[in-house]
Amino acid sequence: MQKYYEKQNATLFHGNCIEILNHLNTESIDMIFADPPYMLSNDGISCQNGKVVSVNKGKWDKSKGLEEDFHFHNQWIQACQRVLKPHGTIWISGTYHSIYICGFLLQRLGFKILNDICWFKPNAAPNMSCRYFTASHETLLWAKKDPKGKHIFHYDLMKNGFWPGDDIKKNNKQMRSVWQINTPKKSEKTFGKHPTQKPLELLRRVILASTHKEDLVLDPFTGSSTTGVMALELERAFIGIDIEKDYLDLSIKRFEHIDSKHKGLL
Ligand SMILES: C[S@@+](CC[C@H](N)C(=O)[O-])C[C@H]1O[C@@H](n2cnc3c(N)ncnc32)[C@H](O)[C@@H]1O
Repeated sequence: MQKYYEKQNATLFHGNCIEILNHLNTESIDMIFADPPYMLSNDGISCQNGKVVSVNKGKWDKSKGLEEDFHFHNQWIQACQRVLKPHGTIWISGTYHSIYICGFLLQRLGFKILNDICWFKPNAAPNMSCRYFTASHETLLWAKKDPKGKHIFHYDLMKNGFWPGDDIKKNNKQMRSVWQINTPKKSEKTFGKHPTQKPLELLRRVILASTHKEDLVLDPFTGSSTTGVMALELERAFIGIDIEKDYLDLSIKRFEHIDSKHKGLL
């Protein structure tokens, strides 16, 4: 299988993640972060910088109907299950359009759900119709492959670490399951935009909580590779997959920036 990019600790593949995952070695990955299509690009409206905009993210985010969406989520979660190491964990991020399906499937496939995290976005865009509550959170499910296995959780680091901008996290208190983190800063979009880019701070927390240095992290829907950028910053290795070449090219620009930062060129 041909790699789209490979340098030091980062590898990218171009294509459908279900096919690519099926070529990777069994039980080779320590942790998976997956931010699958939400299936919400169905011609609604949203708000961006005070303007009404289409909610559509791209062809890849269109729903094919509940049954087919369910089948897709089942296939990619199963493919992830095979490549995860026995002690490995998976994080899945989503909104109500996808997260309940993924949660049901995780349980049906034999994973044990460890937490459902509410990522609260204090700067979420307003609701334009004024007919609903403003959507201001996403859910992250965290599950372990082996219900009896010993998963990694850096409890002390979560309790005593530095979590800027989170008014919910109090010093010296346990990390709760509600995380207050703003949507990505402008500086995180210097090399181009992805319509559903995650903030680096969110991935910092996920990776620090559930991996050791030098672990191998995989993201089957890598997009702009926020997961990869943070994995490399935190000295983990990374494999990313995406069906859109443009997003992989954006990922490469972000990786090369870290690479030059590390070499002291900036
Ligand atoms: C919600 S976005 C992920 C955004 C990413 N977390 C970031 O921070 O940039 C989902 C990504 O999955 C990709 N995608 C959709 N279907 C795919 C598939 N079958 N295989 C691989 N990638 C896919 C899309 O191109 C999109 O970039």
